[in-house]
Amino acid sequence: MDGGEKTFWIIANWKSNKNIDEALGWVKKVGSSVERSARIKIVVCPTFSCLSEIKKIIVDNNFPVMLGSQDLSPFSSGAYTGEESANLLKDLVELSIIGHSERRENFHEDDEMIAKKVKQALENNITPLVCIQDENIPIPEDCKLVAYEPIWAIGSDTPDTPENSEKVAKMIKNKYGDLQVLYGGSVNSENIKGFLSQDDINGALIGGASLDADEFIKICKIVSEGL
Ligand code: PGA
Repeated sequence: MDGGEKTFWIIANWKSNKNIDEALGWVKKVGSSVERSARIKIVVCPTFSCLSEIKKIIVDNNFPVMLGSQDLSPFSSGAYTGEESANLLKDLVELSIIGHSERRENFHEDDEMIAKKVKQALENNITPLVCIQDENIPIPEDCKLVAYEPIWAIGSDTPDTPENSEKVAKMIKNKYGDLQVLYGGSVNSENIKGFLSQDDINGALIGGASLDADEFIKICKIVSEGL
């Protein structure tokens, strides 16, 4: 660990899960259980349909939880049926996951489209979190936050090793310079410590294990005790 200065992102990626009631229950429980810390950034990324209700509850209760989206449009607002533009999302979210492997695979997102989305996010003061599946996937210009998520590790209960993730994070930082690298893929309360203890891993993007509020709170506690 890097002598007390390390900060750590804990980001919940709910994917296409939770209706509004379930989402609000989770946020109330997690928001009132996790500690506020300058060194830990807790972000929840629900579906679009839950964003505004969750935003209200975070603001009203001053919960130490940030709100993110799981995607955004490569276009500005206008005649793009079905799209959620960064220009409209900026009132709700501080961060957006971009280029998740499930979007690359199921919605044929390519590097060019991902670069457009990053540009939209940056123009609207939304932090883009770009998912890369290995160190050879290009990272768009000015993107300062990436998640290394090997496809085989996602939802498989077989995470990459903390040591290999650290190696990949180092390679990315050597190539792109000043950015933060998160690890994602089967992270849970049993294995978070291993990733936390790597110098170049600045957080975790958590899918399955983030759905359960108690498990997510446990992960946050382990991080706050271990930092
Ligand atoms: P997982 O998903 O934690 O369920 O493996 C991570 C992700 O897809 O971001």
